[in-house]
Amino acid sequence: HESTSAAAADVSSRTPPYPKLLDRLSKVRRILPSDRALTLAEKILYSHLDDPAESLLTNTQNGSSIRGNANLKLKPDRVAMQDASAQMALLQFMSCGLPSTAVPASIHCDHMIVGERGADVDLPASIKGNKEVFDFLESAAKKYGIEFWPPGAGIIHQTVLENYSAPGLMMLGTDSHTPNAGGLGAIAIGVGGADAVDALVDAPWELKAPKILGVRLEGELSGWASPKDVILNLAGQLTVRGGTGFLIEYFGPGVETLSCTGMATICNMGAEVGATTSIFPLSSGHIPYLEATHRGSIARLASRISMANEAENLLRPDSAAEYDNVITINLSTLEPHINGPFTPDLSTPLSQFSSVVEEKQWPTTFGAGLIGSCTNSSYADMTRAESLVKQASAAGLKPKAAFYITPGSEQIRGTLERDSTLATLSSAGGTVLANACGPCIGQWSRSAEAEGADVPKKGESNAIFSSYNRNFPGRNDGNRATMNFLASPELVTAMCYAGETTFNPMTDSIPTPSGEPFKFQPPQGQDLPAAGFAQGNPEFLPTPGIPDANTTVQIDPQSSRLAFLEPFQPFPDSDFKDLRVLFKVKGQCTTDTISAAGPWLKYKGHLPNISENTLIGAVNAATGETNVAHDVDGSAMTIPALAKKWKENGQEWIVVAEHNYGEGSAREHAALQPRYLGGRVILAKSFARIHETNLKKQGIVPLTFANETDYDKIDACDEVSTVGLYDMLKKGGQGAVEVEVKKKDGSTLRVPTKHTLSKDQCGFIIAGSALNLLARKVRE
Ligand code: F3S
Repeated sequence: HESTSAAAADVSSRTPPYPKLLDRLSKVRRILPSDRALTLAEKILYSHLDDPAESLLTNTQNGSSIRGNANLKLKPDRVAMQDASAQMALLQFMSCGLPSTAVPASIHCDHMIVGERGADVDLPASIKGNKEVFDFLESAAKKYGIEFWPPGAGIIHQTVLENYSAPGLMMLGTDSHTPNAGGLGAIAIGVGGADAVDALVDAPWELKAPKILGVRLEGELSGWASPKDVILNLAGQLTVRGGTGFLIEYFGPGVETLSCTGMATICNMGAEVGATTSIFPLSSGHIPYLEATHRGSIARLASRISMANEAENLLRPDSAAEYDNVITINLSTLEPHINGPFTPDLSTPLSQFSSVVEEKQWPTTFGAGLIGSCTNSSYADMTRAESLVKQASAAGLKPKAAFYITPGSEQIRGTLERDSTLATLSSAGGTVLANACGPCIGQWSRSAEAEGADVPKKGESNAIFSSYNRNFPGRNDGNRATMNFLASPELVTAMCYAGETTFNPMTDSIPTPSGEPFKFQPPQGQDLPAAGFAQGNPEFLPTPGIPDANTTVQIDPQSSRLAFLEPFQPFPDSDFKDLRVLFKVKGQCTTDTISAAGPWLKYKGHLPNISENTLIGAVNAATGETNVAHDVDGSAMTIPALAKKWKENGQEWIVVAEHNYGEGSAREHAALQPRYLGGRVILAKSFARIHETNLKKQGIVPLTFANETDYDKIDACDEVSTVGLYDMLKKGGQGAVEVEVKKKDGSTLRVPTKHTLSKDQCGFIIAGSALNLLARKVRE
């Protein structure tokens, strides 16, 4: 199939730079103590260091305590962006003034496609509704040489697995499930747009060296157990925070029994435990998958490297490699699991699920089962589901719950169509949605017409089952009372025939129209299509990644959804004088509090418009009211209204807050928006680490109280000047910083503060933002 594939034409740009990486690995070996064994993830990460000596020897006691301590400055090989987050990533990239991206990159239009009645109707409607955004993305892709996958081409992670991921690759993706690519032996990390820009302009991207959690797999899956159950089980063991600061590396004999796509499912959901990413070593499942996806040359190169002696082996861990922690999972005894509702770590083995449903009084029936998505739409997943549908159809059964299928890409959809799998699923009553995120990201219009039954009203408790990866409240149908239970696609499919949450397809039977009880036999499928992958509709192939300087990036000046970015003002030539306290936040302040999602998502490419939601979830420390701020004259208004008023008057401001300011996500808008509206300092009791970094990147100074009780001494509308900040920035982070607070009655007080600014980050603040600094370097 290689000759017919567009992918084959460009396989060289998709091959990891192995000679360079091997050279870098030997340099790393020379720097580290001779007896220092490396895990697989360490080999790949460290061979992508810009300057191995600087990263591995600074603050690590000469390389003996890298994990958890070193600040890695990395040069990723590639960047992938989804349509929602690509907007701000590209707007930021454009302001750097480069003619093309420094590394290969791709854009995938998947998040903005609604799922309702099926691909044929939904896709054209979504393209119409988002035309200006897709036109912008396509024109920017053409200008800067980024491969553009149009709406309907597929979901970012499936497309990346089929085309770009490869053993030993390091890539960034502007989506939290980017680690899916680790199933094919890549280090793939989910980031915000500003981080992606680092890679796109060839600036080193910084990462605190993760600790390594080893997961040893033993035995072999059989029957109803699937790769999804490995990660559902692990999520239950680790909880949603258990992987924070860790990279998960799988090893052990069980690895050789898994398919490449199964490993991708496992890595995909590593995001649910907070892990930096997850990775599998090169194994027998990878070679046929690379060959079937037209990358036989990469398979051959990788095989050769993986057979090298240990010192030069980039694609396998050293035999003496040590993990910071090890968890063992026996695949032979692993039971199917169901996780949820409302959190992916609430894990219940199938055999116990019905009693838990009764005990917790969860609904005993469910309205919809959804299979596919970026997590679970492989050929193995779909053919295993198909085998169950065939059994049930032969017994005269139809699904009782509405049954939706989301193929992850046009390649997999076209292949399933050719092999009649989709026809089997459709004739049983399944609805095939567009190759896009749809219901997984809340783009799900549930209607009685589409579902063939009344749909629950907002706030009404109900259940659905999906083979997706996330199940936070409101994520799928916008109803926070909808309980989404996560399971393997085969389990979801079988359960749809019962429509009952208490049904166990391994033990229970369903009455057939003839009165005979029907019991499912375990599902069966094929990892790869015997006739190879079909290309599908050629209209969904990507544009080539060749820059065209003559292309004009399309942004309508009247647009409400897109706006060019103006560079932020640099730091003044002295300390800040008389900033004013815009708001004193009481209690929790997450990135959702600072930049709400939901309907605001459509303004992600328009900073002035999305800034209208700034801090609207914040609670006023003086009054207890949410989103009510007071100007100096006492007049009350919303927080963004006051910020806008002050911005117009040239009054810059600070926010005072409590603990863990900015927890929740890497949402960069939560830093961009306050900066756009005139915020210069956030003074908090403590910060969430990722948000603190995002603030620095956008030129906002995060300071913490040296004495927490000083929080009580500052009020809204106080005037705050910094003392020692300018000096400290000039000295690259050295020196004390205080703030002088002028109260309304004219009295003043000094408040000592702390900061975590590194030398590089001081440069961001002085330049006004990391982007300003990058743009200056590009110009020079
Ligand atoms: Fe899309 Fe859901 Fe995956 S939003 S990228 S299908 S997690």
